[in-house]
Amino acid sequence: MNQFLGKVAVITGAASGMGRELANMAAGLGMKLVLADVQRKPLELAAEELLDGGAEVLAMVCDVRKGAHVQELADSAVARFGAVHLVFNNAGVGAGGLVWENTEEDWEWVLGVNLWGVIHGVRVFTRVMLDCAASDPSYRGWIVNTASMAGLLNAPALGVYNVSKSAVVALSETLYHDLKLVDAPIGTSVLCPYFIPTAIAHSHKHRPDELRTDAIITASQMAAQALTEKAVGSSKISAAQVARLTFDAIREERFYVFSHPQALGAVAERADALVHGREPADPYAAAPHLKQILKAGMKGRS
Ligand SMILES: NC(=O)c1ccc[n+]([C@@H]2O[C@H](COP(=O)([O-])OP(=O)(O)OC[C@H]3O[C@@H](n4cnc5c(N)ncnc54)[C@H](O)[C@@H]3O)[C@@H](O)[C@H]2O)c1
Repeated sequence: MNQFLGKVAVITGAASGMGRELANMAAGLGMKLVLADVQRKPLELAAEELLDGGAEVLAMVCDVRKGAHVQELADSAVARFGAVHLVFNNAGVGAGGLVWENTEEDWEWVLGVNLWGVIHGVRVFTRVMLDCAASDPSYRGWIVNTASMAGLLNAPALGVYNVSKSAVVALSETLYHDLKLVDAPIGTSVLCPYFIPTAIAHSHKHRPDELRTDAIITASQMAAQALTEKAVGSSKISAAQVARLTFDAIREERFYVFSHPQALGAVAERADALVHGREPADPYAAAPHLKQILKAGMKGRS
């Protein structure tokens, strides 16, 4: 897909990080924007900046955990712009720690945003796009789901996030096959960033009140937080670069999008261990300093 001018892009989690950069990129290509986020003020700011730059923008506060919100987003997008061509199911949050120490609320929140958000995005928007295709023989659409290298590696002390992102990879690969099965004029990609400097390490700040707990933060959760902050902060690939790579993949009609292809060795080792029935490979074999951060943080554990 390489025609973007005048087409409509929907971006969830558009107020910050990679979502914000995808919005910049889409605006630069002359696309109309539908921006969704749970944070009202940063969303309004993003919308203002893009409007000032000359883009047509519809910005909606939308909690992607909720199917009704995503449906309202789709209905509003069609009411305003008549069609939807690109959908970025990008909104996401993070939580870490030893997998047995995460609370029910941790699971509900992270799976709610990272997995259910993408489920709702796929469920609602694919149908909208198929309707668009039915009324326009020249229609071409593309759906990008944001997973993570975490969904391919299953690193320690990141269980909730790994589960959410592995499921997004599964959902995306299935979507790819299903769209092919029906010869839909809609393509799909799964974006698997490694560590990228965004606000993801601070996503707990906009965790909904009903899913906050007064559970004490464990040493493993603090260690995972320190690892995420360090790894995200020291990454040399920017969110803007990831947005560019993502649009390149759409143009070239590629399914897998990686920010750090050099990290794929660990994915190959995992797959090799799996097919040969060995123990799971160490996801941090090529990045031992990250494991050191975790180990050091765990030492204070009572
Ligand atoms: N930054 C990384 O290192 C990294 C690595 C791999 C994958 N990812 C994924 O990339 C995506 C974008 O994250 P980012 O790194 O740009 O982080 P970010 O925190 O800068 O942006 C995420 C955005 O999602 C929004 N959001 C959170 N919950 C929401 C909800 N319920 N409904 C709607 N919007 C919601 C946030 O308000 C925020 O604006 C996420 O899916 C994340 O898991 C990030």
